[in-house]
Amino acid sequence: MDGDRRSKVQRLYDACDAVFSPGKQGGGRQLPTLKQHADGMEAADVGIDADAGGEQGESERSSSSSDDETSPRAAARRVLSTRGFTRITYVHIHECDDFSMGVFCFPAGATLPLHDHPRMVVLSKLLYGSMRVSSYGWVTAPRRCGPRKGGLAKVVAVDELREAPCKASALFPRSGGNIHTLTAVTPCALLDVLAPPYSEALGRPSTYFSDTPVPAVPGLAVLEESDLPEGFRVVGAPYVGPELIVDMDLYDY
Ligand SMILES: [Fe+2]
Repeated sequence: MDGDRRSKVQRLYDACDAVFSPGKQGGGRQLPTLKQHADGMEAADVGIDADAGGEQGESERSSSSSDDETSPRAAARRVLSTRGFTRITYVHIHECDDFSMGVFCFPAGATLPLHDHPRMVVLSKLLYGSMRVSSYGWVTAPRRCGPRKGGLAKVVAVDELREAPCKASALFPRSGGNIHTLTAVTPCALLDVLAPPYSEALGRPSTYFSDTPVPAVPGLAVLEESDLPEGFRVVGAPYVGPELIVDMDLYDY
């Protein structure tokens, strides 16, 4: 016990604030610390229980007397059961100008189509379950202004299996596979930190792509902007995890 009574999601938020908010001291130097916080996150830390019985939705869970008050289960006495989810469901935790935090909950077999993260850093932590990831990076440097609607991309990963428990992964504007598609092998949930968040007004829209391999050059593909598959939509669910106190500068890292 380190005496720090903040919830794990609060620690993650505070680390994001230190790394991504302009004018804070952390900057890139604190990125490894932020990743460590993400590495340690579990579904219960954000009020999600993949194994909860009953129907889909929010439920009350009373903690037993043996629960440590600082344990994830004690901190998140209300839980969101994802068991009955039939669509990809986004649980929004926080968004400010500098970063967003949320969880994508996938039913087995669901696919988030190929999409990019223009000029963004993405920190992802698989909270439970398993998924396959295929990703690309642009062959030429991303444009400084305006979204990119297509071009030549190199393959970074093909159906790479990720299984919880595993460490967090990071992708950057020019590395790590900035354009990716995610397919749930089993029901799974992915905690995503986007910095900065998507913003149509600020030239960071979410764009979906089709990919066509270049037959003569293995490892390359042409990406073109495409519509979402018919009927595809991400639905929302409430965040019921530990309360987040934003914009506080009370703690050291
Ligand atoms: Fe993504």
